[in-house]
Amino acid sequence: MQRLHGPGALRLVKENFGMASFDPGLADVVAAETRLSHVDGAAGELIIGGYRLEQLAAEATYEEVAYLLWHGRLPTAEELARFQEAAAHYRALPPLTGEVLRQAAENRSAPIDALRMAAATFDLGLEAADGLARANGNNGNLAENGAAPAILARMASAVATYGRLQVGLSPVAPDANLGHAANLLYMLEGVAPEPKRARALEIYLITVSEHGLNASTFAARVIAATGSDLVSAITGALGALKGPLHGGAPGPALDMVFEIGEASRAEEVLRAKLAQGERLMGFGHRVYKVRDPRADVLAAAAEQLLAHGEGKALYDLAKAVEATALRVLAEVKPGRKLDTNVEYFTALLLHGLGLNTDMFTPVFAAGRTVGWIAHCYEQAATGRIIRPQARYVGEVLDAWTPRAAR
Ligand SMILES: CC(C)(COP(=O)(O)OP(=O)(O)OC[C@H]1O[C@@H](n2cnc3c(N)ncnc32)[C@H](O)[C@@H]1OP(=O)(O)O)[C@@H](O)C(=O)NCCC(=O)NCCS
Repeated sequence: MQRLHGPGALRLVKENFGMASFDPGLADVVAAETRLSHVDGAAGELIIGGYRLEQLAAEATYEEVAYLLWHGRLPTAEELARFQEAAAHYRALPPLTGEVLRQAAENRSAPIDALRMAAATFDLGLEAADGLARANGNNGNLAENGAAPAILARMASAVATYGRLQVGLSPVAPDANLGHAANLLYMLEGVAPEPKRARALEIYLITVSEHGLNASTFAARVIAATGSDLVSAITGALGALKGPLHGGAPGPALDMVFEIGEASRAEEVLRAKLAQGERLMGFGHRVYKVRDPRADVLAAAAEQLLAHGEGKALYDLAKAVEATALRVLAEVKPGRKLDTNVEYFTALLLHGLGLNTDMFTPVFAAGRTVGWIAHCYEQAATGRIIRPQARYVGEVLDAWTPRAAR
């Protein structure tokens, strides 16, 4: 190898890369083929497992969406019943997982951190930790065997358990007779939820179940691609989801609505924020350049949930703030195509369900778990490791400087 210094070193590396192009955020790189979802940012359309999101939100249960993504087709009534039973069977957390959550609560860890610590223990008590390798090429067994249904069930149980522990309440044991979403609320609140509230949460979980090659899904696929196990991949995905540039941002959208307080102040407050160079939370999206289809689905669910009293007043305020924000953004940021994103109505819906802001991202994770798992299987089936290249921009130094001379 020819040795070069400074800018010359950069030239050397570039030459070695041949046709490879440099795309630091990978935004223009297509790194996977998927049957799981299609995100059409120009048309504002989201297809999950072949169906439009709007149709799934109206018709499906969360378990049906899980089956659809893991098997590539909707289950028969009998298959669905078997799938629900298998997933419900795993809802009780392994004792050590419970202990990890208790210690995290004592430590006052953020809920998303507690969930990441707990997730790493989800395979305790399973027959084989490596559900991914075992089921690879044998998707027929995915629903009933291996780590997949256990991770699905335990993610929701861990979210609910920590929701109680962090406010000093004792955990509630799962109820196998309830659906996935209803059981999550039951384990959080200790009483069986009204069907309307369980359905609102279920629509949320379906809406966020799958969304292309986002950062956490990509992280899960990278881990799965090495032949690692499902629990490792999901734990890694949680780490990626935690960041404010990905899943950690729904709280501020609600804070903005509360700060405005009444519709008549919206224009003044929003204009002042924009004049100070602030961004309006819950608006704009990297992929969607029209309205995020998830926003409408969640707005409709929020409207159903918050139909009376204080809830209705908050819903009306949020809609008024949204309308003003869209008008002001179009005027102040013309041509930027800024529309309402998923976070705006996520915040309203989850708040309406009585969840604290710091539980929003963990509940998002519970919803996205089925998508992460499906992507892991899809990636593992390719048998290919994901290994991009890095461009070396350092130097190649000829002489070693002795410690005393540095
Ligand atoms: C989501 C987001 C990061 C996507 O950004 P992006 O597509 O990369 O867009 P850019 O950051 O390149 O911004 C493009 C222009 O639109 C403006 N813009 C983008 N989102 C904006 C918002 N929410 N409020 C005000 N202006 C916004 C930028 O200031 C920029 O304006 P400029 O051309 O005058 O500099 C961005 O819209 C944002 O920060 N939104 C608010 C936070 C939020 O809701 N996050 C949850 C996302 S699901």
